[in-house]
This record gives sequence, structure tokens and C-alpha cells, in this order.
Amino acid sequence: MTAECSQECAYCWGPQGISAVDTYTALAIISKIADEGSRRIVFTGGDPLQRADLGVLINHAAQIGLEVAVSTTGDLLTEAFLEEHGSRIDLISLPLDGSCEEVSSRTKKPGHFAAVMAALDLLESFAPIAVKVATPVTKHNIADVPNIVALLDRRAAALQGRLFYNVFQAFPRSMASDVEWEEMVVADDEFRELREQVETTDHPYRINWLSHETLDKLYVMVFPDGTLTVPVGSEFRNYGPFLEVTDMDSLLDVAEFDRAKHQRHSQGWSRS
Ligand SMILES: C[S@@+](CC[C@H](N)C(=O)[O-])C[C@H]1O[C@@H](n2cnc3c(N)ncnc32)[C@H](O)[C@@H]1O
Ligand code: SF4
Repeated sequence: MTAECSQECAYCWGPQGISAVDTYTALAIISKIADEGSRRIVFTGGDPLQRADLGVLINHAAQIGLEVAVSTTGDLLTEAFLEEHGSRIDLISLPLDGSCEEVSSRTKKPGHFAAVMAALDLLESFAPIAVKVATPVTKHNIADVPNIVALLDRRAAALQGRLFYNVFQAFPRSMASDVEWEEMVVADDEFRELREQVETTDHPYRINWLSHETLDKLYVMVFPDGTLTVPVGSEFRNYGPFLEVTDMDSLLDVAEFDRAKHQRHSQGWSRS
């Protein structure tokens, strides 16, 4: 939606330094996404709430039958926005980098932990919106993930079965060229051990474990400038303006997008 964001996460794999299309073009892109047979659209970024026209775009996506997810930092989520647009949103995703301000502020700006807690408080009153919390696991917070799980265990009841938790093994892909990945990325076996540790106890919500293997070739994205991007390994493969694509199926084959994996993974939540 936009590269604009209140945060500056060192690991960010979102678009950076890319200008965004206008409302008219964004509406056309959403229509084409539906025409291509997609069931769901995820408005992400950057922070989609940095776009003044987000409500208009959500409205259009819902009207043409797409399930709507909004992946936001939580910094700009307000009661007024949810009152106006919440009935057309199926899922809101919020990042949580730590179980407390101290761990959170190793990768997010000061105050982000409190902003996410406030957003979760707010979402308690906005059933039936599904709520996904997402943690990008790095060396900075891997030891704290069991505490985040414990925090979500305590908060789950108030969200009445609407909570999901996505645990990402932070993937070494960024538009910035100077990222010190060795200081951040956790090894496959460390991520596996974390999963085993967390899975020794039951939790009242679904946890999705997104390892490097799962995350690779999983996404098809339209970048803020309207170009189609399929990330593979550490590359963002760009296929030009999405509105000009005439044969999406062939393009996705060439792009090495893993349809079967995407299909399996996307069963995680659904309106129906
Ligand atoms: C790019 S962000 C955009 C939406 C919003 N700003 C946020 O951070 O949630 C989408 C998701 O990707 C995750 N993420 C960002 N960089 C990542 C990376 N290098 N590896 C794995 N997940 C990452 C974020 O934690 C978030 O859950
Ligand atoms: S909050 Fe999301 S989009 Fe913003 S810098 Fe962090 S990962 Fe990137």
C-alpha cells in the first residue's frame, strides 16, 4: 500500500523508498486482484494506515467479494477507524517484537509495545474481526518468545476465539543493502527448538510457525508503485505494472511462486 511507516525495523522486508499509486489506480489494482480469482487481499506495507484513502480501498475490496486483512503497526489504529470500517475487515494483523517494552524496543521504536497492547484492548470490542499477532523472531527476542506466548495466553479469552499467532523466523531479505543479518537471523535448528519448547504446552489459539523454508516463494505482492513482485530467496523479483499483466498463471509459473504451499498456508483463517 505504501512504504511509509512509523517504525524502522532493521529486518524489514517491506517496500522502502517507493512512491505509491493514486486512489484511482489502487482501486483498479484491487479489482484486478479479484478478477484473477483471489479470495483474499492483505493490505500491508509499510503501514497501510498511513494512506488517507485506506477506508475507500477496503470498502471497494469488500464490495467486490474479497476477504480483507489489514496488516498494520498498530501505531495509528483508532476506535473511530474501526467504527467506520471494521464491519468490512475480516482480519487485523499486529506485530509484537517482545513481551515487554524492554525487549520490544530492541527492534521497534519506544512505545510500540504499549501501542500494540492498546490496539488489542480496542479489538476486544470489535468482534468478529480476527486478530493476528505476528512476531519476527531474531536473536534480539528469541529467548522472549515463550513470554509473548504467555502474554497471549492471558489475553486470548477476551478475544473470544478470534486470536491467531504467527511466529516468523526473520528472513534475510530487505530492500536496504546494509542490513547486518548475522546479528539478527536465527538458525533453523534454534527456530525448531523454540517451536518444540512452545508446543510442550497447549494454547487457546492457533500458532503458525513460519520458518525460512515456509516463507520462501510464499507471497505474491503488488508493491506501492503498482508493480507485481514475487520474492524468491533474498531477491524481490519485479514483473512490471500489475495492471498490464495479461497471463497471471504463466507469470506465476515463471516467477517460481509456490502455489501449493501458498494454498496450504492460506487455509489458516477464512470467513466461511
Ligand atoms: C512488512 S510488515 C508490514 C505491516 C506492518 N508494518 C507490520 O510490521 O506488521 C508485515 C509482516 O512482515 C513481518 N516481517 C517484516 N520483515 C520480516 C522479515 N525480514 N522476515 C520475516 N518477517 C518479517 C512483520 O513482522 C509483519 O508481521
Ligand atoms: S513496522 Fe512493519 S513495515 Fe514498518 S519497518 Fe517494521 S516491519 Fe517494516
